Amino acid sequence: MKPRFVFVLGALAAALLGACATPVSGPSASAELLARSGSTVSGSVRFSEVSGRMRIEAQVGGLTPGEHGFHVHEAGDCSAADASSAKGHFNPAGKAHGHYGSTERHGGDMVNLVANADGTANYSVEVSGLSLTGPTGVVGRSVVIHADPDDYKSQPAGNSGKRIACGVIAAR
Ligand code: CU
Ligand code: ZN
Repeated sequence: MKPRFVFVLGALAAALLGACATPVSGPSASAELLARSGSTVSGSVRFSEVSGRMRIEAQVGGLTPGEHGFHVHEAGDCSAADASSAKGHFNPAGKAHGHYGSTERHGGDMVNLVANADGTANYSVEVSGLSLTGPTGVVGRSVVIHADPDDYKSQPAGNSGKRIACGVIAAR
């Protein structure tokens, strides 16, 4: 009777521990967005490596409806009121700005964020050319949302206008 009771408790504890210790996915990083350039944008962005590609998921509010340029920028510094402190697009391969599906693009060039009529965006996209750490690593850099759409061709940043939100990317 007693050993059996201990066994049941042990199994229960193991099940609970297992549930807590099992991550939903592998290692990831995230950024909390700060409103910049007088905007009221808020939200968060999550980065996780999925079979050799980077999955980027974002929940954002306070946007104007429509498309917004969305990039990883070189510097993990959002302190400037216009987010200029984040510097240019993260460009580990020394390429020109381009379409997210092309090989001729900055590593930090991502798919435009699209806001609904209510100003919210729910984003889930996978791109190549980024990792969490190492030479193409996003940790310690920043993610920036722009006022206008990225045209995926104008140099050096797709003519996407002001930087309306910025978040430093940290390992979680
Ligand atoms: Cu940008
Ligand atoms: Zn770019």
